[in-house]
Amino acid sequence: MVTEFDELENQIMAEMKRIYTETVIDHAMNPRNVGSIPGADGFGSVTGACGDTMEIWIKVKDGKIKDVAFWTDGCGTSIACGSIATEMVKGRSIAQALGVNQGEILEALGGLPEDSLHCTLLAADTVKAAIQDYLALKKEPWKKSYRR
Ligand code: FES
Repeated sequence: MVTEFDELENQIMAEMKRIYTETVIDHAMNPRNVGSIPGADGFGSVTGACGDTMEIWIKVKDGKIKDVAFWTDGCGTSIACGSIATEMVKGRSIAQALGVNQGEILEALGGLPEDSLHCTLLAADTVKAAIQDYLALKKEPWKKSYRR
């Protein structure tokens, strides 16, 4: 039996599929690497022009990102961007991960509507901030003990 709720859910899903790619919907509804990493080697927190914030934690071993987690209070698209950006940097060297940019995230998602493009920038900027924090802590490791 199809209920009114089922019909509404189908309508919403059909509208989402009209606007977003399968990849965006998948990463927004089943985000990977959500959470935080206690004692992370690098942490970035960026608030975008829209007022939403993303945070990314990285754990580094032998010059490669071994583990990564993200959190955001942003829109569904920002969740998809954080999810795919963290998947993209996992296993990469620090130099390769620093190269992840807005265009690469956008391409991996299969595109986004014009008014969601800034969400990819938020994810790219937060990845960069986490890596820059890692590099700064490498120079002054004693600062890590002041982290909460
Ligand atoms: Fe703010 Fe998407 S609207 S990150």
